[in-house]
Amino acid sequence: MTKDNVLILLKDAEGYISGEDIARELRLSRVSVNKAVASLISDGYEISSVFGRGYRLVSSPDLLTLGEIASYLGPEHRKTHLTVFETIDSTNTYLKQHFEEFGDLSCVVADCQTGGRGRRGRTFMSPPRTGIYMSFIFKPDREPYLCQDFTGYMAVAVSDGIKKCCGLDPQIKWTNDIIMGDLKVSGILTEIAVESESRELQYLISGIGINVNQTASDFPEELSEIAGSISMAAGHKIRRAELCACVIESVHAMYDAWLSGDRSYVKRYAERCITCGREVKVLKVSGDVTGYAVGIDDEFGLIVRYADGSEETIRFGEVSVRGLYGYR
Ligand code: BTN
Repeated sequence: MTKDNVLILLKDAEGYISGEDIARELRLSRVSVNKAVASLISDGYEISSVFGRGYRLVSSPDLLTLGEIASYLGPEHRKTHLTVFETIDSTNTYLKQHFEEFGDLSCVVADCQTGGRGRRGRTFMSPPRTGIYMSFIFKPDREPYLCQDFTGYMAVAVSDGIKKCCGLDPQIKWTNDIIMGDLKVSGILTEIAVESESRELQYLISGIGINVNQTASDFPEELSEIAGSISMAAGHKIRRAELCACVIESVHAMYDAWLSGDRSYVKRYAERCITCGREVKVLKVSGDVTGYAVGIDDEFGLIVRYADGSEETIRFGEVSVRGLYGYR
């Protein structure tokens, strides 16, 4: 924590900041400041130290630490309850296990997950030093049946965060895969808990996995037509902490909008939805059905028109999109 706070001050400072000023600001001893600076240097930070002037941060490694992420958050978001792990099994599982200890809108971030979970029991590849794995817990005072649209809002928020950080326009594959260059760069897993006696909502946990700096060769053969990364689409490396902060801020804005009933997110979802206007295969227990995705309804449902002219609005489940993920 001390190291994170020293890093934030070094990043905020324009030029040099003296060891005395850091110590005073953080109510630390000079020895603690020296130790924190030495530890940052051993983490890969380049810090210039000039007698009589103090310290100046010259360059930073691409680390996903509390100090790095907080340094990119605006002042009003620095109060966000943020917990950062180097390695964890799954940020969603962690929040589920500790949900009583976390308040509304708390966020858990990890550099690496050993048991990353995707939808439908799939695993989510979460190697260290390349991606972002983060989960938010929400405790709105709202009936569970009124939360079905939450995952749609989340998809817009994640794409907003990526757009803000990288200046690129991600698309959304219904229901909530984030697509860049026809490849999946991010997935979202929203889990909900309802108390069985009262039927009251206990929490929503939304986990976001983002492939940030992977190259094509980092993905296994079977994912080569499915998974990509933001840096592959951007053509350059992305600072993960900055992207993480942008997503945190866009999720905060989204949550305010969702609570206040702002439906503009549905329109933005529809505009970004890569599924619309394409041939799709709706995966049903009774067998797959091919149709044409014509649009998104007011509740983020996918409107599919079949060959006989009938229409169906799909609210959950899997839909393959022709031209994506190897479906030809
Ligand atoms: C999917 O595409 O199927 C959803 C993937 C969700 C992955 C994220 S990574 C952070 C959080 N922790 C998990 O175990 N899963 C989600």
